[in-house]
Amino acid sequence: MNTVLVGLQWGDEGKGKVIDVLAKDAAYIVRFQGGNNAGHTVVVGGSTFVFHLLPSGVLHKDKRCLIGNGVVVDPDVLLGEIAALRRKGIDVCRRLTISEHAHVIFPYHRILDGLRETKRERKIGTTGRGIGPCYVDKASRCGIRMGDLLNPSLLERKLKDNLAEKNEVFRNVYGHEGFAFEALYAMYLSFGHRLKDLVGDTAAILHRAVRRKKSILFEGAQGTFLDVDFGTYPYVTSSSTIAAGACTGTGVAPTQIDRIIGVVKAYATRVGEGPFMTEFPGIMGEAIRTKGHEFGATTGRPRRCGWFDAVMVRRAVMLNGVDLMAMMKLDVLDNLKTIKVCTAYKYKGKVFRDFPSDLEVMQKALPVYKDFKGWQETTSHLRSYKKLPPRAKAYVRALEDTCGAKVDIISVGSGREETLFK
Ligand code: GDP
Ligand code: IMO
Ligand code: MG
Repeated sequence: MNTVLVGLQWGDEGKGKVIDVLAKDAAYIVRFQGGNNAGHTVVVGGSTFVFHLLPSGVLHKDKRCLIGNGVVVDPDVLLGEIAALRRKGIDVCRRLTISEHAHVIFPYHRILDGLRETKRERKIGTTGRGIGPCYVDKASRCGIRMGDLLNPSLLERKLKDNLAEKNEVFRNVYGHEGFAFEALYAMYLSFGHRLKDLVGDTAAILHRAVRRKKSILFEGAQGTFLDVDFGTYPYVTSSSTIAAGACTGTGVAPTQIDRIIGVVKAYATRVGEGPFMTEFPGIMGEAIRTKGHEFGATTGRPRRCGWFDAVMVRRAVMLNGVDLMAMMKLDVLDNLKTIKVCTAYKYKGKVFRDFPSDLEVMQKALPVYKDFKGWQETTSHLRSYKKLPPRAKAYVRALEDTCGAKVDIISVGSGREETLFK
């Protein structure tokens, strides 16, 4: 069974936890897009792990982990993550392969990410990890790929070409001194040297896995509304975060995908700028942020919080072809007297039941809410769906109905065991 798992909101839905839970039934876990803008949290036996590039199934010691061609890789961050796990007694090297076609993030990408943000009148609030500029180079065909780090003369030529053009831009547009070739070249040759045994043809590995009927779990990063095509553009990331990205980001064909799992929070959050139709006003936002520990796993920024937006999630279910949903952080709503769900938007006298494509509507529309009575009981200790308070079940059922997909997994805490299967 080959499963693609994606976020249906603006990221941080709890994908890392679900991947860790589902990984026991998979032989391969593969990241297919994004880079270390992602922060995926896994909590096992009281220890917390945050993965930025390594697939979140890596804690299962018998699983093959892959980083697909659609990912942008900062080798320094990757090596750091591998070393941090080794210090905790987990060696991933013999079961990790990184696509030779994955593009490499250089310091000039990171710096440019920051400089562009400072120049922009309307900021995106990127993670500053160089993700956007690296994907720009990929699309404009000057990018440097993981395989290139293993070929000194090719790397030299490509890096020189890049610096010749980029240093002009750094100096003339941004007043930045630019980058010297020698130091960068030595640094990236050394990264290549240290990673050489891990770089390979991940598409071929996955095709072999498909032929042998081994289960593959595709781990999405970010969320549907950060997708470069279907998200709240321009307030998005630079990759295809929807399920279809799993195919282009790994080389596995759509015909080989068996099911799509969409991960949602029982409410909504967003980090960075951009429209957020159901965002809480100040004090309520603070309360949920504190209860749900809503701070970015990558940048530590406070996440903006709001009510569940069924208009959005309905569209995400459609865009991803979601078969099943995992609903996360239900416990965060435990104390609330009333819980609201957005079922439509209103703008200039018009009611929008479908997600609008116009940024102005997204920014200015008012949400139409349906109220639900809160269950006002603790749920984190529960280990069976049947034991959930009736009002919590009614909330989940109502979301299934309005979003058009069944919920199969309900999460009531960050730990592996705090997971209920319907
Ligand atoms: P991801 O990027 O989608 O993997 O999500 P993040 O790891 O960035 O953010 C999700 C956060 O919620 C992490 O801190 C998780 O440990 C935590 N979490 C996941 N599921 C639950 C849950 O059901 N309840 C609570 N209270 N926290 C959860
Ligand atoms: P995970 O995988 C939440 C947001 C940034 C910013 C926008 C563009 O943990 O769900 P980028 O650095 O990608 O160019 O920033 O996207 N963003 C995320 N928000 N979770 C993420 O990843 C994110 N990755 C990027 O905050 O608004
Ligand atoms: Mg995250």
